[in-house]
Amino acid sequence: MKKRLGIISLFVILFIAFIVVWNYSYQTGLEEAYVPIDETNSSIPIIPSEKGVFERSEFALDYANMPYDDKHKRSLSSYYDNRAFYGAPPSIPHEISDDKTVGENACLKCHQNGGFTEKFNAYAPVTPHPEMVNCRQCHVTNNTESLFVSGSYQDFSAPIAGTNNALLGSPPVIPHQIQLRENCLSCHAGPSAPIEIRVSHPERINCRQCHVLNNKITTDVGEFIRNK
Ligand code: HEC
Ligand code: HEC
Ligand code: HEC
Ligand code: HEC
Repeated sequence: MKKRLGIISLFVILFIAFIVVWNYSYQTGLEEAYVPIDETNSSIPIIPSEKGVFERSEFALDYANMPYDDKHKRSLSSYYDNRAFYGAPPSIPHEISDDKTVGENACLKCHQNGGFTEKFNAYAPVTPHPEMVNCRQCHVTNNTESLFVSGSYQDFSAPIAGTNNALLGSPPVIPHQIQLRENCLSCHAGPSAPIEIRVSHPERINCRQCHVLNNKITTDVGEFIRNK
């Protein structure tokens, strides 16, 4: 009797052990394979200016599969119309529901991830800098449609999109500064991106692997003549 009881309890213990081990391995199997980088104590330096490139990469496949909405696309010329000079913060082209707000969620609910806004009949452009929460410190509303007095200010000249390839089919160089423009997908992908610069390959997330900077302003020094 005692022997039989011993054997039964041994099997019960083995059975419980099996369930525990199986459960543990099943649960660990469910965890994501992704190992987060511990930025506080890592030997791999994080380069701040390159980190931004990946900021919206989790949405890259959504962008790649998004259909084009021809009725509500934006062009580069309307993009520039809203800027006082090249690189200036665009003005707010719509009314603000609460005039006392400085920004944060009042703006981010539309500008963090974009999307279609019925009220303004347009797609909200995604902000490249959601962390700078005092939006109205830099972005102001349009209070007048006309110039106060017409002047002789020269218009700015922006690099022309579509002319930055060294060879036909080669990746165009980045013709602009990337300070404050680290987050490429915010301007180059999705329905609010100006149609001329909307990228055909948002899923190749490491943009700077192929696109290199060329923001040097060079002046023509003329022909080189050797001194005799
Ligand atoms: C209800 C959604 C919504 C809210 C809230 C909102 N916006 Fe907008 N915003 C839009 C849409 C849509 C556009 C595009 C308008 C167009 O193209 O005619 C836009 C355009 C802009 C632009 C112009 C961007 C460009 O590239 O020219 C700026 C700047 C802006 N908003 C700033 C703000 C700020 C600052 C706030 C908060 C005070 C705010 N917005 C709140 C929907 C919103
Ligand atoms: C320190 C000043 C500053 C603050 C604060 C700021 N912005 Fe901007 N913003 C800029 C500048 C400058 C640009 C133009 C960037 C460029 O063209 O290189 C810009 C561009 C934008 C654009 C246009 C992106 C595009 O498609 O070209 C949007 C939308 C925008 N900001 C929204 C916001 C929102 C929303 C906030 C608050 C959460 C905010 N900004 C806070 C300076 C600022
Ligand atoms: C604030 C919005 C914004 C951000 C962020 C931004 N760009 Fe741009 N990009 C533009 C605009 C606008 C143009 C058109 C030329 C100009 O105005 O500088 C452009 C032009 C380009 C072009 C040339 C396209 C052509 O057809 O010639 C390339 C390549 C490019 N950007 C790559 C990048 C990369 C890579 C990043 C991220 C490191 C980036 N951009 C971030 C707005 C932006
Ligand atoms: C594997 C290399 C590679 C990567 C990574 C890459 N690109 Fe490109 N990109 C190219 C090539 C090549 C072209 C030229 C395509 C052509 O002329 O047909 C191009 C063209 C462009 C253009 C001009 C418009 C167009 O779509 O043809 C823009 C804007 C652009 N890329 C932005 C980006 C952005 C933003 C990223 C990151 C999300 C990125 N690229 C990642 C190789 C790359």
